[in-house]
Amino acid sequence: MRVGQACPVADPGSTLITRIGELVTNDGGGWAAVTDAALVMQDGTVAWTGPASRAPAADSVVDASGRAVLPGFVDSHAHLVFAGERSAEFAARMAGRPYQAGGILTTVTATRAASDAALRLNLRRLAGEMLRQGTTTFECKSGYGLTVGDEARGLALAAEITPEVTYLGAHVVPPEFAGDVAGYVDLVRGPMLDACAPHARWIDVFCEDGAFGADEAAAILEAGRARGLGTRIHASQLGPGPGIRVAAEAGAASADHCTYLTEADLDTIVSAPLVATLLPGAEFGTRHPYPDARRLLDAGATVALATDCNPGSSFTSSMPFCIALAVRDMRMTTQEAVWSATAGGAGALRRADVGQLSVGARADLILLDAPSHAYLAYRPGVPLIAAVWRSGRLAAGAIP
Ligand code: NIG
Ligand code: FE
Repeated sequence: MRVGQACPVADPGSTLITRIGELVTNDGGGWAAVTDAALVMQDGTVAWTGPASRAPAADSVVDASGRAVLPGFVDSHAHLVFAGERSAEFAARMAGRPYQAGGILTTVTATRAASDAALRLNLRRLAGEMLRQGTTTFECKSGYGLTVGDEARGLALAAEITPEVTYLGAHVVPPEFAGDVAGYVDLVRGPMLDACAPHARWIDVFCEDGAFGADEAAAILEAGRARGLGTRIHASQLGPGPGIRVAAEAGAASADHCTYLTEADLDTIVSAPLVATLLPGAEFGTRHPYPDARRLLDAGATVALATDCNPGSSFTSSMPFCIALAVRDMRMTTQEAVWSATAGGAGALRRADVGQLSVGARADLILLDAPSHAYLAYRPGVPLIAAVWRSGRLAAGAIP
């Protein structure tokens, strides 16, 4: 089937999506979109984009009928290896009780007691939820095992379904090390790191009162870096702290949460540079104030949006939900929020092949049941993801 002016022969296996109302490409690094567009994918990558009137022929054709096509979401921060749930804790918070880092230990107990099969089932269920909501790349942390064996098995399970695996042995100090934080830090950067590094690409630390301090976080990140892991951090989630400085000194790819930033933190994020990954699901779930994305963007920072999916602070797997919160409550424009949920997340993971639909990028894309990206915030809570392709193959939804 031919659309518009036919170009020279397309190879077998090519798919043309045409009559796209708005095609978001993020071509060139910043926000970029074309109206009345078409896209060809072949061999798992984007082969051509441009006006629908000039689309080349392809082996199969999808008619988008004026709907929008976007890069698949890149969720660069999620904690998916766990057992159990904490809905009672959430309900208590909504009734006025504050969020405390110590709640993590409830999930640690349940996770240690769970079988590999139970953890795998939960992990894959959440990954499936993500995919159906348009997420085509996701990061996954350990952090609910906190023994050598439990952290290593969590990472091995995560590595079955994503290359973006993060070792978070330094989530909190487990009860058996209460009173011996130094002993636990030595374990995390010694034998636990030895067991975990082969399964991971990244190392992360929860740097916060009630979790790990600046010197401990720096020592753990340095040990991971020396083993070839990239560094990232949970910083300034529950109050101002040293995490942003520690991240910059460690050469981290991303500082995550950034809810309570000082002026010095802001300067550090811009000059390091660090991607500031904002996680509005956590503020929704803890009733903390939302991070000030406008302040970061106006200062010139690169901002990513991610879910922080975990059973305690943010039990959402939905990037569209995070986009809607970012637009409504964090003063991001609809374009900024969608860029941050795609190209921004790719930047936080130092990935050049996802988060955009330039020629040569992975053919990870979403067909929206709406004419423009703005509908993701304009119609919050509505299932707008009609179809999802991963590496050029239909992975969720249905072709119209
Ligand atoms: O990113 N901040 C640390 N870790 C998670 C919370 C984990 C939990 O409460 O179980 C977060 O919000
Ligand atoms: Fe987190």
